This record gives sequence, C-alpha cells and structure tokens, in this order.
Amino acid sequence: MILGFIGTGKITSSIVYGLLKSKLKTKRIYISSRNKNIAKKLERKSRVIKIMKDNQEIINKSSTIILAVTPAVANKILKKLKFNKSKEIISLISTINLENLKKITKNKNIVRAIPLPSVEINKGPIIICPSNKKVKNLFNHLGKVIEIKNEKLSYKFWSTASLMASFYEILNISSNWLIKKGIKKNIANSYIAELFLSLSYDAKDKKKGGFKKLVAESQTPNGLNMQVLKELRKKKFYLKWIKALDVVNKRVSK
Ligand SMILES: NC(=O)c1ccc[n+]([C@@H]2O[C@H](COP(=O)([O-])OP(=O)(O)OC[C@H]3O[C@@H](n4cnc5c(N)ncnc54)[C@H](OP(=O)(O)O)[C@@H]3O)[C@@H](O)[C@H]2O)c1
Repeated sequence: MILGFIGTGKITSSIVYGLLKSKLKTKRIYISSRNKNIAKKLERKSRVIKIMKDNQEIINKSSTIILAVTPAVANKILKKLKFNKSKEIISLISTINLENLKKITKNKNIVRAIPLPSVEINKGPIIICPSNKKVKNLFNHLGKVIEIKNEKLSYKFWSTASLMASFYEILNISSNWLIKKGIKKNIANSYIAELFLSLSYDAKDKKKGGFKKLVAESQTPNGLNMQVLKELRKKKFYLKWIKALDVVNKRVSK
C-alpha cells in the first residue's frame, strides 16, 4: 500500500506514528510539506516516509489518499486536484459530506473516517462510513473500527468525538485541584490518569450492562460520589454537556 496525506497536521502525525508502531507494512508514505515542522519530524522517523511539496504529486504517487486538511482549506484546494478513478480516498474532514466530496474530487471511491489522536498508540474507536473492507483493514491496525452505513447517523459520532478536549479538561482541573491542595504535580497527574484509565477499563468490560448501572453502582447511599453527582446535576452540568453535543451536531449535520 502506498499512502499519501494531503495535510500534515495533528491527525496526520498521529496516524503516521500509529502506522509506524503497527504491524501494517506500508511501501511508502507520502506526506505534504505543510506543516513543515511536523513533516520534517515525521520524515526522520522512517525511510518509508517522504515529504512532497506538491499535493498533486502526492496523489499521483499514492494508491490511497488521506485528506487531512481543515474544511476551509479543502474547499480551496481540492477542486484544483485530479484524483484518478483508481485512487482510494479517505476523508477525515469533518464538515464536507460524501456527496460534495464526490463532486469536488470527481471520484466515487471515497470513505469518510473519524480517527482520534489516540491512534498514535493504536487505540481508540475509528468510525468509517460507508463500510469498506480495504479502509477497515487499514484502520484495524490503528484502533477499533466501527462501520456506520448511514452517513447521517455517522455525523453523530463527530459530536461525541468532540468530547476529547472537555474530557482532558476534567483531568486537568482535577489534577490542578490536587496540586493546589498541596499534592506534588507528578503524584497528582499520575493519580488522575490512573483513576480515569481504571474507570474506562471497567466501563469497557461492563458496557453490555449499560453505563447507567455503573453510575448507580459507584454511589454509596449518601456517600461522596452521590454528593458530587447531585451537586453537578443541580448546577445543570450534564444538561449543558448534552446541549454542547446538540450544538456540534447541528454544525456537522449541514
Ligand atoms: N485532530 C483530530 O483529532 C481530528 C480527528 C479526526 C478528524 N480530523 C479532521 O482532520 C482535518 C485536519 O485536522 P488536524 O487537527 O490535523 O488539523 P491541523 O493540525 O490544523 O492540520 C491541518 C494541516 O493542513 C495543512 N495545510 C494547510 N493548507 C494546506 C495546503 N494547501 N495543502 C496541504 N496542506 C495544507 C496545514 O499546514 P500549515 O500548518 O502549514 O498551514 C496543517 O498541517 C480536519 O478536517 C479535522 O476536522 C481531526
């Protein structure tokens, strides 16, 4: 497989690092010279990786092309590029739907995907739409692939994927709270990371029973967990969380 990336930003670098860690054999990975610093760092990691200045050259030389630019850049550059019909295109762009992508690239061989930066450690869910065996095989090396056939339903995962920064902010403020109360930074960070990791492992193991059960089971009657949950519910923390999902959903569903 010869992979070509249009756009060498955060998600490209996570995917490339993830691929280098995985068992997938790639003959060549072409990356664009933008962003220059990230591209240079990646090129130093493996002989398989080569920087190209020209986006068209990346497309011409690759069998699978990954579109990893922002929607604004994509709208500007994609219509000027030629995608031969034999090329497989994977779009990571959040707000351009399949119909428009097909029109812009004049190619029907397109799959949309939502990988997360944790692909760097070959972990995390990766939504692909529509189902596609080749794309699934590729991303299976980087995390847990979930195929969604219906594009409109796949949009919903853009909203939940947008919870990443808010999740990390919870870790950040919890750790900072401990530090302010006199705990050493390395102990605070380590405790918070282990706490949320263990909760996630537990949730993954018990997912069949539903998360509501975990919410109930983690509260002792009149205990501390119950108190925090009550306090947050009273302040409408979770309603605001749902509202934020709705707002993003509107943005990605256009
Ligand atoms: N980050 C995530 O977790 C994530 C997850 C899934 C999907 N996505 C999607 O993936 C896309 C990229 O996201 P990102 O977070 O990686 O953004 P990013 O870090 O801003 O990367 C975008 C890259 O595009 C480059 N670029 C700008 N103009 C270009 C051009 N004419 N030709 C080639 N490259 C050009 C930028 O280079 P310069 O710095 O030189 O301008 C930058 O390196 C977005 O559509 C996003 O919605 C992101």
